[in-house]
Amino acid sequence: MRVTLKIWRQKGRQDKGALVAYKLNNVTPDMSFLEMLDLLNLELARKGEDVVAFDHDCREGICGSCSSYINGRAHGPLRGVAACQLHMRSFKDGDTIVVEPWRAKAFHVIKDMVVDRTPLDRIIQAGGYVSVKTGGTPDGNAIPVPKPIAEEAFEAAACIGCGACVAACKNASAMLFVAAKVSQLALLPQGRAEARDRVLNMVAQMDKEGFGACSNTYACEAECPKQVSVSHIARMNRELIKAKLA
Ligand code: SF4
Ligand code: FES
Repeated sequence: MRVTLKIWRQKGRQDKGALVAYKLNNVTPDMSFLEMLDLLNLELARKGEDVVAFDHDCREGICGSCSSYINGRAHGPLRGVAACQLHMRSFKDGDTIVVEPWRAKAFHVIKDMVVDRTPLDRIIQAGGYVSVKTGGTPDGNAIPVPKPIAEEAFEAAACIGCGACVAACKNASAMLFVAAKVSQLALLPQGRAEARDRVLNMVAQMDKEGFGACSNTYACEAECPKQVSVSHIARMNRELIKAKLA
């Protein structure tokens, strides 16, 4: 396959940045999207040019590192997959593929495709955990949890913190991410003890970081690689109202 890549190149936060075109001739349909970028970087390195910086780690949809906006879609054209799980067979020979970083007020570009997603880490630090001294590992069935509740909590826990929901939202809202983290713990008995402070602190941190309000367009759910449901946003809002009235 031959493809033309138009990739966002930006040296740093203060640099204006621009799309730069590259032609690649030796792409195979079975290459992953990130392997195709590796091939580009190999060619750039051989020519002594600056390679494209892009985030990646597990390359199997688990870590949430990869974060490319591909042809105007967060993580590319397929639903329910991260960019690292996308393969070149999803494109046609001769295609032009536009690759950009997440664009959001709260995520500034560090270099090329790499953006600073530490605002999401600070939201987790504000309350996305259970702060009890757990002692030894309890038996799996020591605290019974009804199966439908466990499954809903598990769906929320599938969030990999990639930030695609923020990038896809026209308000650059982080509501789906924060809701997944709040909901996962609010649903389980282990998370109830700190539920009030958790939702108040995480939402306050989300606002402090400069994320926008929910746009109610459901673009976040549509582009989420783990298909986290917007119903978790409704739960977070209920948790927030309860916490403010308590
Ligand atoms: S909710 Fe989905 S899109 Fe948002 S950070 Fe989590 S996995 Fe990524
Ligand atoms: S590289 Fe880990 S989710 Fe894509």
